[in-house]
Amino acid sequence: MAGHVQILSPAQDEALLREAVSVGSRASNRAWHFEAGSRWRKRHGMVTPRWLRWVLLRMQENNMAQVFIIGAAGKVGRHLVKQLADRRHRVLALHRRAGQGAELGALGATPVTGDLTAIDVGALAGQMAGSDVAVFTAGAGGAGVEVTNAIDGRGLELAVDAARQAGVRRFLLVSAFPEAGRNKAMGEGFENYMTVKKRADVYLAATDLDWVILRPGTLNDAPGTGRIAAGPAIAYGDIPRADVAATLVALVEHPEVRRAIIELTEGGQPVGEVIARLARP
Ligand SMILES: NC(=O)c1ccc[n+]([C@@H]2O[C@H](COP(=O)([O-])OP(=O)(O)OC[C@H]3O[C@@H](n4cnc5c(N)ncnc54)[C@H](OP(=O)(O)O)[C@@H]3O)[C@@H](O)[C@H]2O)c1
Repeated sequence: MAGHVQILSPAQDEALLREAVSVGSRASNRAWHFEAGSRWRKRHGMVTPRWLRWVLLRMQENNMAQVFIIGAAGKVGRHLVKQLADRRHRVLALHRRAGQGAELGALGATPVTGDLTAIDVGALAGQMAGSDVAVFTAGAGGAGVEVTNAIDGRGLELAVDAARQAGVRRFLLVSAFPEAGRNKAMGEGFENYMTVKKRADVYLAATDLDWVILRPGTLNDAPGTGRIAAGPAIAYGDIPRADVAATLVALVEHPEVRRAIIELTEGGQPVGEVIARLARP
């Protein structure tokens, strides 16, 4: 044992404990690390680098979430699957077409089949059971009023009801930026899309879930920069889909951000810093 233990000054010991405690992103984890650190100290006299390595590993395990993605085969969805899997979260990827499952599996997800227009609340709840977070990033993709009403509208309500039935407390919704298409004569389909998106926000916000409504500006497929602007009210702009996904990952990892509406565009601040700032009371 003595061979593994590096003797530290009381100041180094204190600094290590503080570092280990601060890396836990969930408040409960921070409390747990502090407890574990105090117990270790009692037994060994002080915190050691070996303990810090052990605690970092445990912390990684503790912070891993199971995330159920609705619309996982979409453009934002695929970025999200990959980014979550790369960070060792467990991902269940709802998709509707044969052939999408293999690709989602290769990105690191467990594929789950289901069509929002055919599945019922109970069946979807059964698929979601055991997940920590549900993310809704499905959409009709401009396929017309009826499909928009069915997917972005009723599909969202079905997913919210299923999450509540399954006991999935946290629900992240990819919504739309209120200024999108303003003064652009976008037509009846777009007007309906914005109305349905707002109705979906209202439906989710009226629940007792730990919801976050994310309202990105106009999406593009430029490479992600890892930098964004986000807040309750910001100026309208564009954003790469990869950065929307990175923001969703940060929201998965910051459950303290809850019951919040967040507008999102490209910007100059690192995603993690912006979301951590929103997490502060
Ligand atoms: N475009 C913009 O500028 C913009 C701006 C703000 C917000 N948004 C919103 O951002 C979200 C993601 O956008 P995106 O570009 O990633 O969209 P996308 O590529 O069109 O992805 C949408 C996904 O929803 C799936 N879907 C559609 N109908 C379904 C059904 N009946 N059952 C199950 N899944 C179904 C689609 O499945 P298939 O792959 O089988 O078609 C697709 O994978 C959407 O909600 C969109 O409204 C878009």
